Amino acid sequence: LFAGECEFFFGSQKIDQLPPIGRPEVAFAGRSNVGKSSLINALTGRRALARASSEPGRTKQLNFFNLADRVSLVDMPGYGFAKAAKSVKEDWQDMMFAYLRGRTTLERVILLLDARIELKESDKDVMELLNRAAVVFQIVLTKCDQVRPKALATKIAEVEALALKHAAAYPRIISTSSETGFGIEDLRAEIARFAAP
Ligand code: GTP
Ligand code: MG
Repeated sequence: LFAGECEFFFGSQKIDQLPPIGRPEVAFAGRSNVGKSSLINALTGRRALARASSEPGRTKQLNFFNLADRVSLVDMPGYGFAKAAKSVKEDWQDMMFAYLRGRTTLERVILLLDARIELKESDKDVMELLNRAAVVFQIVLTKCDQVRPKALATKIAEVEALALKHAAAYPRIISTSSETGFGIEDLRAEIARFAAP
């Protein structure tokens, strides 16, 4: 699946401008700068497929990527970006939430959490929302190259405990690094389960 072609095919800035329902979709959500775009690049082996940047708020629309005509990967704008104007933030949130709630082909949300930092209120809010919307989400830790094994183990335990409180949370946490490729194969295997034949 991941050896095949992957290309950008649609960007939506408004919820009424989504691509037509088609392939199964897996969406990547998380705080601004957590590493969503970088992870999509690492998964697909394409350095600059999704635009990544150290400047938070890089991804400003829902970006849809066609992976081998079998599954779509959806790069979402990050939440919790303090610098954005309030109206902009609310627009993004409404859009994100509307997409997450209403998309029948959305098979799973990959919810990214930075392994180096504390869980934020906004992360917990999004988990609540996904839970209420009954959208199955899987927590993936990012930037694991930057934490020591012991700290990572503590982090995993903390996040697992939180996942257990949400019926919609898939219980398996995957630790990754887009820099080193750690955990990328594991995540590919998870995503491959949703791909159309
Ligand atoms: P928004 O589009 O703003 O929501 O951000 P994003 O979640 O798409 O983050 P992005 O992929 O643009 O990455 C943000 C920054 O984190 C960039 O400077 C990346 O190089 C860095 N980064 C991403 N993944 C990793 C990782 O696994 N390890 C390390 N060390 N840095 C990473
Ligand atoms: Mg991005």
